Amino acid sequence: MAVPLFDTQTPLQPLGAQIDAAIAGVVAARRFILGPEVAAFEQEFAAYCGARHAVGVANGTDALTIALRAIGVGPGDDVVVPSFTFYATAEAVPATGARPVFCDVDPDTYCVSAATVAAAFTPATKAVVAVHLFGNLAPVREIEALGVPVLEDAAQAAGTRSVGGRPGALGRAATWSFFPSKNLACFGDGGAITTDDGDVAGLARMLRFHGSHDKVTYEHVGYNSRLDELQAAILRVQLPRLDTWADGRRAAVRHYERAGLGELVTLPVAAPGSEPAWHLYVVRSERADELAAGLPGHGIDCKAYYRTPVHRQPAMREFAAATQLAATDELARTHLALPVSPVLSAEQAREVVAAVRAVLG
Ligand SMILES: Cc1ncc(COP(=O)(O)O)c(C=O)c1O
Repeated sequence: MAVPLFDTQTPLQPLGAQIDAAIAGVVAARRFILGPEVAAFEQEFAAYCGARHAVGVANGTDALTIALRAIGVGPGDDVVVPSFTFYATAEAVPATGARPVFCDVDPDTYCVSAATVAAAFTPATKAVVAVHLFGNLAPVREIEALGVPVLEDAAQAAGTRSVGGRPGALGRAATWSFFPSKNLACFGDGGAITTDDGDVAGLARMLRFHGSHDKVTYEHVGYNSRLDELQAAILRVQLPRLDTWADGRRAAVRHYERAGLGELVTLPVAAPGSEPAWHLYVVRSERADELAAGLPGHGIDCKAYYRTPVHRQPAMREFAAATQLAATDELARTHLALPVSPVLSAEQAREVVAAVRAVLG
């Protein structure tokens, strides 16, 4: 039995007719940009996160740039970001005129910690981007206690919950990607910003619309970056299923644990008080490259997402010349994503574990 890295199709099958009807409704109404579907999705998604406001934007990368500007980041500022993350987390910072300063991560949760963030502070630090990586939860309140605003990069954390609330309402603002592989996904690109702060939401709303309220007067140099009506309509059909899908992801991880995966590789550790909606299930092994080479022969899909961490990417050279991040380098070398989805069965988990055992001999 082949096991894919993720399965975005099976969970959507029961929603096919509803999604088709939602698309047909938008097409019939002929209102494609900033209409009732986006407004309704913004309300529903804000309520889901426990935040006061949501602002739909074109993708998760624009969400980061717009949110950083909306919380006051600009030229001359430093923004602390992890290097063990998707490139866009850091890419969004120079787009504001600010400079990314890279910090290390906790090797067990793969997320930034208050200690790793504090070690990267400079006199110009204006904000921190805390990535909830792979669906695990970064300690936002502990970082905010250092005295800087935190922007949550929650692109990978839809469906995650914690005793302190959901991602999206923990920091000054949060950003979301609805890229097709994400836990909550568009049929194309899409993103959002959530926040409790009305001023931040208001500025983000203007920045996504050319820096204007009304396309008559332009108060800022902004962007054309809107979530569109078709994508919002598709997201509205899926949002009520998100918690069930997240439960499925957590069940998949329990299947792995019961099948003995932890005897073969090092498993990720859920942040204290959190229930991650594992977007990716990323394990560690000194023999990660052997696994990556051998598992496909057993029909098991796997992927090393961030072998070259962001601070070692050519485009980031000017910001990271002297940066040394030991845990990041170690994780970059040893991590490997194994299959996970809302519908990964106990049998599939046993199959994956058997293949890992066979490859490691
Ligand atoms: C952690 C993280 N941040 C930002 C992004 C950027 O989102 P998008 O691809 O929608 O621009 C992604 C995903 O693609 C991501 O995984």
